[in-house]
Amino acid sequence: MAGVDYTERIPNNVNLGENRRLQRALEEWQPKFLEWWRDMGPHGSQANDVYLRTAVSVDPQGWAQFGYLKMPDYRWGIFLAEPEPARAIPFGDHKGRPVWQDVPGEYRGVLRRLIVTQGDTEPASVEQQRHLGRTCPSLYDLRNLFQVNVEEGRHLWAMVYLLDAYFGRDGREESEGLLQRRSGDPDKPRILGAFNEKTPDWISYLMFTYFTDRDGKYQLASLAESGFDPLSRTCRFMLTEEAHHMFVGETGVGRVVQRTCELMRQGKTDDVRTYGAIDLPTIQKYLNFHCSVSLDLFGSEISTNAANFYTMSLKGRFEETKKNDDHQLKDATYPVTELDGDKVTVREEPALPSLNERLRDDYIADCQRGVDRWNRIVKEHGVDFELRLPHRAFHRKIGVFTDVRVSPDGRLLTEAEWGAKKHEWLPTPADEAYIQSLMQPVTERGKFANWIAPPARGVNGQPVDFEYVRLA
Ligand SMILES: [Fe+2]
Ligand SMILES: [Fe+2]
Repeated sequence: MAGVDYTERIPNNVNLGENRRLQRALEEWQPKFLEWWRDMGPHGSQANDVYLRTAVSVDPQGWAQFGYLKMPDYRWGIFLAEPEPARAIPFGDHKGRPVWQDVPGEYRGVLRRLIVTQGDTEPASVEQQRHLGRTCPSLYDLRNLFQVNVEEGRHLWAMVYLLDAYFGRDGREESEGLLQRRSGDPDKPRILGAFNEKTPDWISYLMFTYFTDRDGKYQLASLAESGFDPLSRTCRFMLTEEAHHMFVGETGVGRVVQRTCELMRQGKTDDVRTYGAIDLPTIQKYLNFHCSVSLDLFGSEISTNAANFYTMSLKGRFEETKKNDDHQLKDATYPVTELDGDKVTVREEPALPSLNERLRDDYIADCQRGVDRWNRIVKEHGVDFELRLPHRAFHRKIGVFTDVRVSPDGRLLTEAEWGAKKHEWLPTPADEAYIQSLMQPVTERGKFANWIAPPARGVNGQPVDFEYVRLA
């Protein structure tokens, strides 16, 4: 099936109409989802007409259609990538056997936990971003924010489908739970730390889509290798949508960097705050923060859970099928960055419990590519400054570096040294207040806030000054 059935109440390409029990469960969940969206989705923007893309097919060529929609009318649905004929499990103890179309009984609890943890991040990010619409730097950026938000809502649907279709009553309870937890709520927080942080301004948001959505890409890519085929197919289609979220982050931060450098050159000064822009050292601090909290999302360096997920053939490596080894890793080792007394060192560890660290390595390499592109913008403007990813041990709250203080260049520090320097490395209340002072909405067609350059091109071939959101 290439097309999606939009005549159904829940658009889908999984023949939902043929499974009455599942259809009923999802139709009962749908109004609760909409209620959550009204309460926790983009604040004050539900009546606007937004130029949104909607998935109409899972064919990577031409899968989306663009048009004006009010967000609550977005057709959230269930879309799985086409099955790969005769797909075999690519890794772990079950390697080589046909993929599972049903949940293997002995892995039920583990698999459910994996799906719930992924699912929980999707509504969490919508909650984190719900107030940003009020301070958008342009209609173009506002539209991109809303596009990301509706698609995170769809990713929630993707996970709820798996829970309801394959996990019976437990799955339905988890589906309810996904609508009940709230980002940052001390009593019922979202599951993962980064998804309880605030996203109070657009620089945080752009860094979030660059760093935290990219964690999503790596988690989804390793779940897309899963021996549980419905999970694999769901994640493969989610990755198609996810690419846009990272595009928003990479180009967004790039446009901020560009604007800053333009003003530095024009004014022949580093102090662009006098022009209402964001100086490069402040951009670096936001980068440090968002990179470090996103590194935590990969989990502990040495993890039995990670080993089990792999051995059980549930969660693979990034690009598992492209790797040339035995895909079981029982005798393999992997270099892991660790703490050795008062030094940060690299040691060979058994490969299976090191899988979180390996995924973190793939992620860091990917993050670096975008930073290189930002630095090219800096260079093109003749500015002498280099943005850098912080050392993986910097500002960590999970794993072996939790209890130590490490500088962005990887030196272990005393508490006193950290205290004296941290204001140079992480946003201070004064930085946050300054950024907040810039957050004035710009909603005139084709106009952009002074701290961000316009994009190189518009959305879907439309001009940059297109009316991407018609404000109600
Ligand atoms: Fe997502
Ligand atoms: Fe995303």
